[in-house]
Amino acid sequence: MCGIIGYIGNEKAAPILIKGLKNLEYRGYDSAGISTISKNNIIIEKDTGKIDEIEKKINFDSMGGSVGISHCRWATHGNVTKENAHPHTDCTGKISIVHNGIIENFSELKEKLIKKGHKFSSTTDTEVIVHLIEEHYKGSIEEAARNALKEVEGSYALGVICSDEPDKLIAARNESPLIVGIGKNSMLIASDVPAILDYTNKVAYLDDKEIAVLTKDHFKITDLNNNVKNKDVHTIEWAKEAAQKSGYKHFMLKEIYEQPRVITETLNGRIEGGSINIKEELNLSDKELLEINRIIIVACGTSWHAGLAGEFMFEELAKIPAEVEYASEFRYRHPVLDDKTLVIAISQSGETADTLAAMKEAKKQNAMILSICNVKGSTIARGSDSVLYTHAGPEIGVASTKAFTSQLVVLYLLTLYLSKLRNTLNDEKILDLIAHLRKLPLQLESVLSNDNKVKELAELYSDKTNALYLGRGINYPIALEGALKLKEISYIHAEGYPAAEMKHGPIALIDKEMPVVFVAPKDIYTYKKVLGNIEEVKARGGIVIAIATEGDEEIRKKADHIIYIPKNLYTLSSILAVVPLQLLAYHIADKRGCNVDKPRNLAKSVTVE
Ligand code: M6R
Repeated sequence: MCGIIGYIGNEKAAPILIKGLKNLEYRGYDSAGISTISKNNIIIEKDTGKIDEIEKKINFDSMGGSVGISHCRWATHGNVTKENAHPHTDCTGKISIVHNGIIENFSELKEKLIKKGHKFSSTTDTEVIVHLIEEHYKGSIEEAARNALKEVEGSYALGVICSDEPDKLIAARNESPLIVGIGKNSMLIASDVPAILDYTNKVAYLDDKEIAVLTKDHFKITDLNNNVKNKDVHTIEWAKEAAQKSGYKHFMLKEIYEQPRVITETLNGRIEGGSINIKEELNLSDKELLEINRIIIVACGTSWHAGLAGEFMFEELAKIPAEVEYASEFRYRHPVLDDKTLVIAISQSGETADTLAAMKEAKKQNAMILSICNVKGSTIARGSDSVLYTHAGPEIGVASTKAFTSQLVVLYLLTLYLSKLRNTLNDEKILDLIAHLRKLPLQLESVLSNDNKVKELAELYSDKTNALYLGRGINYPIALEGALKLKEISYIHAEGYPAAEMKHGPIALIDKEMPVVFVAPKDIYTYKKVLGNIEEVKARGGIVIAIATEGDEEIRKKADHIIYIPKNLYTLSSILAVVPLQLLAYHIADKRGCNVDKPRNLAKSVTVE
């Protein structure tokens, strides 16, 4: 959803900006650009297309200067054109800005500015900001930016430079992510951590309606009324290699393969003998947790699927009524909450605007907010009463994989903690569940060792145009996730459905061209019924691919293809079952020549509503 990086220091800014943009390209990849101040002039290079291509066209000799800003775009207002690519400049050509967000009152501002004689060269909402800063400029870029932003409504993460003040870089944020990186004789701004890891692991977080003024060795953060805000400096623990492909063809494949290690990290220090050790992280007293009378989970996309699986866990094991809401729908349907409601916001990035908005609505109604996030210090994490981090490391592939499985594990840990607290499971049962949980990393290794079989399937079916994914109970969200993975990276139309619902409509779609993926590990609840659903598909000529429990010979006789996963408990087997679906989507998309890590129209972190 657009990426920003800015630099001020002793080095030449342009190569640093380009390198940083490459690490942020997952946030937006329809166009990109950079601007630096060279010999007291703003120099801009921008174009549509990939950063690698744009880089080839840049004349780095003419782009001197050790201060600059850059941007990769995911279009919201205005088509994908060179003119609409960032950076944008004012009428004098002395001020240059990059922006991530949406300016809601841009039409009124634009009209006003045009009447004052400003000339616009793009159709973006962003351009009004730079003309507004020009309008307020009386020798201090910091003051002009502050005054301009008082007139702006909407979300922004901004980088601003001015050729009359070449020793300053201005940054500002409101409802769009932006961090300040503190290097040695250099300062950086960025939308996300991976862009700056090559230069520093020390960061300060900007809050809403705050402005940062950076020189190469100092930063000052104020609010829009110029009150100074003292900020802690945080150390990022991610190694810079974690944000690199490390020999894999794509980030997505690397991230799928990281799952055994990631789950070990997610569990690390959180299990002690027979108990779940998350009390310290929870920041909510046992009394508060005992008083909860329902859980509402808000999330989007893959994180929403994790929430749906969480609903099964909370109700089955902890006996707490739970509901899952699309974050984007939640606040507009006037939910009724109180201080006995625990709202769980799930988000890999911790920056998803819809989830943030749902969380704010819940806060207004005094609900307790717990978030499950991957990115430390993200807006959702900082805005929650309590955070449980997934510890999955940076997830760069737009299609979420390791974040999903680690979210499921955190939900399971939380469920066990609440089950013990509320006495819905006895110690012996909890011990047994923990023993099964501990098996996951090794079992995930074993699932990954079947990758070749999944690849063979992908070879067979990569030319199909539709697919159905079916599962029941906790395997229904896994079916949804499998379908989402396939559609977002391979552009094959795929639907996830509860298996028994098939006969109420989707069965009409089944013919000999339709692959139907059944997520069917053996369980005591619905397994037999799912076998019946498989028969129904076969009777209509459909192709059945089944994800089944090792040793299940019965399903082998019915399915056309079978991928086995190791035996585990009902709830935990869903964490194993999703991995072959991630691999299937990956190999099909790769075979079709799709841009796996950066699928069309998508962005990794959706920071606009
Ligand atoms: O960062 P979040 O978990 O809040 O992101 C939510 C969705 O945008 C995200 O899961 C999206 O659906 C992914 N592309 C799925 O692979």
